[in-house]
Amino acid sequence: MAPPLVGSMAADRHSVAERSAVPRHVAIIMDGNGRWAKARFLPRVAGHSRGVESVRAVIEASIAHGVEYLTLFAFSSENWARPAEEVSVLMRLFMSSLQKEIDSLIRNGVRLRVVGQIDTFEPKLRELIRSAQERTAVHGNAGTRLHLTICASYSGRWDIVQAASRSAQAYRDTEVLPNEASFAQHLALSFAPDPDLLIRTSGEQRISNFLLWQLAYAEIYFTEALWPDFGAEAFSRALSWYAGRERRFGRTSEQVQDPGGAPC
Ligand code: IPE
Ligand code: IPE
Ligand code: MG
Repeated sequence: MAPPLVGSMAADRHSVAERSAVPRHVAIIMDGNGRWAKARFLPRVAGHSRGVESVRAVIEASIAHGVEYLTLFAFSSENWARPAEEVSVLMRLFMSSLQKEIDSLIRNGVRLRVVGQIDTFEPKLRELIRSAQERTAVHGNAGTRLHLTICASYSGRWDIVQAASRSAQAYRDTEVLPNEASFAQHLALSFAPDPDLLIRTSGEQRISNFLLWQLAYAEIYFTEALWPDFGAEAFSRALSWYAGRERRFGRTSEQVQDPGGAPC
């Protein structure tokens, strides 16, 4: 019997990721900064500052392992509800990190994108984001080693709703109803393949309104490590765990292991 059309389309779409032991796209929910600081009787901001060092380590490790896309959840739409002082520290940290790291990103062939409700940021931060994105997009080896995406003021539901609005607009213009592929073109991460691996630190086992659409078939790795303690070694461990997973995308294990095998 011929395989169902949907099944064969899914197989084409996923074949590259399946063949590779290294995930093309890693997404991370960087959690546990506050608890890291609290355990040391430090203010929460100390945890956020140390967290920036983990970001640097994970960017370098991604390049070293040949990961093509790294997407980091830095600030959720829900995080605006935190105490004003903490939000303001996080915004300042975001600005100073952008300013400090941009040259090194350019040198290392990293293309930076910031996705989320950018219009919720103050004008100075918006301008920094705009110029950082532009500078990493135009240099000679832009994105040749890594596409780095920071999700800031981001929520998965917001992403789906903004894509639905744009899709409705496209329908008004073309009168062609959307399908999965055309709808996904309107999502914030339309330039990237779906994440193969999602890492969440700090022992929490939830998605927290991250990439709700895009994580449909991601392998999910939870670790007890708090984000400021997560570095190159911990990242390698997550990648080794991923390499041992069998990605089936709805098929049976036998089909995955022997795609040309006789049907049972
Ligand atoms: C993650 O660490 C950073 C952000 C959400 C901005 P947390 O600040 O959530 O740390 P915990 O969960 O309180 O330990
Ligand atoms: C998720 O962490 C958001 C980021 C890592 C930016 P939170 O610490 O805000 O998540 P919840 O609220 O505990 O689920
Ligand atoms: Mg948290």
